[in-house]
Amino acid sequence: MEILNNNTVIADINSSAADRQGAVSEAFRFSDGDRRALYQTIFSRRDVRGQFLQDSIPESVLSRVLMAAHYAPSVGFMQPWNFVVIKSGETKQQVRRLFDKAHNEAAEMFPADKREVYRNLKLEGILEAPINICITCDKQRAGPVVVGRTHIPEMDVYSSVCAVQNLWLAARAEGLGLGWVSILDPLSLKELLEIPEGVVPVAYICLGYVSRFFDKPELQSAGWRPRLPLAELVNFERYGRPAGDDSGEKLLARISSDQQELETKGYQPGFVSAE
Ligand SMILES: Cc1cc2nc3c(=O)[nH]c(=O)nc-3n(C[C@H](O)[C@H](O)[C@H](O)COP(=O)(O)O)c2cc1C
Repeated sequence: MEILNNNTVIADINSSAADRQGAVSEAFRFSDGDRRALYQTIFSRRDVRGQFLQDSIPESVLSRVLMAAHYAPSVGFMQPWNFVVIKSGETKQQVRRLFDKAHNEAAEMFPADKREVYRNLKLEGILEAPINICITCDKQRAGPVVVGRTHIPEMDVYSSVCAVQNLWLAARAEGLGLGWVSILDPLSLKELLEIPEGVVPVAYICLGYVSRFFDKPELQSAGWRPRLPLAELVNFERYGRPAGDDSGEKLLARISSDQQELETKGYQPGFVSAE
């Protein structure tokens, strides 16, 4: 095996398959420290609503997290997103009014015994966050026929969601909290932000430095819903089909113990093992 650089590996045809595999995974794998940082970002990311500080976000940081969003994957490399950055208190007030209306309507949709609990959940930080951003999807960005979007038209919106997730993770790494607010009438939001025909609002987010990040999702801590056991969601060969062999069983057992550890101790550097 000859390793030219981090991205280019030439397999030596004389080396065994096992040697080749080992060397390839070593060549492309991040260092333990970098992998730990990545998983830490993923597991410590939270949806933030109530802990925003007023501290402003430096341009350099905002530029980085927006760049992370822009380098997300997208169907046919459409890059269908725009980012409407909102700082104006007046605009935030207007969005907050849209939220209040939708939130009241939403409360009525829940069964009576959950309605009061729902009303008391804090589900946005629109006014408290120094910056709000609306991420959109321009369905016409790459013309009418797009590589990869031919049979599933929603792929463009999914691409914008990938941008949101990149932004969310980059924000966490920067120490910024991000909260996604989806309890908004999309047509009213479009009108307010002057979003043109053919472009849909995908996410309205609140962004800012925070006083703390909770260890667990607030909806989990409030007893609204538990974290589901991953092992019950991993199927084999067909949807809903359980493990049919030893290797499947072993994977599920490993998943269960990893999750048990995460839920009881929180993310620990040992989550990233040497193998
Ligand atoms: C598509 C989407 C929409 C969401 N909308 C809202 C929302 O309107 N209000 C809110 O408080 N949280 C919203 N959330 C955040 C979820 O409630 C949160 O991700 C979930 O409870 C898990 O918590 P965590 O993100 O802290 O891990 C949304 C999340 C996603 C992915």
